[in-house]
Amino acid sequence: MPFNFDAPVNRSNSDSIRWDRYAGGDVLPLWVADMDFQSPPCVINALAERVQHGVFGYTHATDSLRSEIARYLEVHYGWEVDPDWIVILPSVVSGLYTAVRRLTTQLEYVLVPQPVYHHLRLACSEGPRPYTEIPLELENDRWVLPWQTLDSFCQANTKLALLCNPQNPGGTIYTKTELLQFANFCEAHDLLICSDEIHAGLVLDNDARHIPIASLDQRISMRTVTLMSLNKVFNFPGIGLAWAIAENPRLRSAMQTDLHRTIADPGLMAYTATIAALQDGEPWRQALLSYLRGNRDYVAERIQAMPLLKAARVEASYLAWIDCNALQCADPHALFLASGLALSPGAQFNAPQFVRLNFGTQRALLEQAMDRMALALASIKK
Ligand SMILES: Cc1ncc(COP(=O)(O)O)c(C=O)c1O
Repeated sequence: MPFNFDAPVNRSNSDSIRWDRYAGGDVLPLWVADMDFQSPPCVINALAERVQHGVFGYTHATDSLRSEIARYLEVHYGWEVDPDWIVILPSVVSGLYTAVRRLTTQLEYVLVPQPVYHHLRLACSEGPRPYTEIPLELENDRWVLPWQTLDSFCQANTKLALLCNPQNPGGTIYTKTELLQFANFCEAHDLLICSDEIHAGLVLDNDARHIPIASLDQRISMRTVTLMSLNKVFNFPGIGLAWAIAENPRLRSAMQTDLHRTIADPGLMAYTATIAALQDGEPWRQALLSYLRGNRDYVAERIQAMPLLKAARVEASYLAWIDCNALQCADPHALFLASGLALSPGAQFNAPQFVRLNFGTQRALLEQAMDRMALALASIKK
């Protein structure tokens, strides 16, 4: 295999949020969602070449970047996007906060799935905007929205629905039928949609595919802002570039309001990394998916052997959402940490009886992590 995901990488002294928090202790940090893999060689080489140039003046998002993004969306999702619909952002998080603030007024409600990546909810609470959480349900081993009762979460002044697809945490990839159901619901209540699709490139099952909700139909597209980025899949969130896609000029202009003002432009390395990944990253991405699939299956197997824990099948991403309810433990995160394993506490996602495990790491390290998890469980049985 031309790419070796088993190669150990030392991330200490690299200003890593994930590794620095527990530096100096014997803790395996499988929390924040970045991976312990080097980015693809095409990205590293492009960055090295850019550094050699040595002049780091003001840069801009070129038309060719937008055209490359549009080409990528057509190739991967069969989605025809006009490059003019694309708004370049430094991060998906800045896009979430912009969407909530600029697409609603202070009295309008936002719908937010629960659990969900915390910034979807924080974008509302800090907006501040009133919001209603829609609890996900476990159906056939998948975390899904409660399709039959969606209407009950809507009120007269609900304006915007946030979607996370693929879902973090939970790892669900919504099917075409499910997305149509959600879109019909939004249409019936005249809601705008902001769909965070940052995990789109991390679909693990060979027979599954990511469908951007805006690609379903032009009517849906006209009420949707889609947020995407290659930060996750090519593992360069520390460089950071994202984009919003809005066919509707009114929504697009709302997403542009804060650019170059309170929202800084992406750094120039972000353009270099993103273009390299768009053009030449596919063989690496395929190899990554194959490795992550192995890690996903390994984690599932180990969790199955721990009767007090449950985890739904992870269809996409490298994040396992682990149900610790049966442990009857006040703080599962603290329990695992005491055995040297740092996970994301479920409380971050408004679900304190869960933990989220990041399996985007070398298999050998993951094996140690799962041993520590078993050790933690053994400690409470005594
Ligand atoms: C669903 C989701 N959206 C956004 C982000 C963060 O994106 P960015 O680093 O581009 O702000 C993450 C990171 O974990 C995520 O899982």
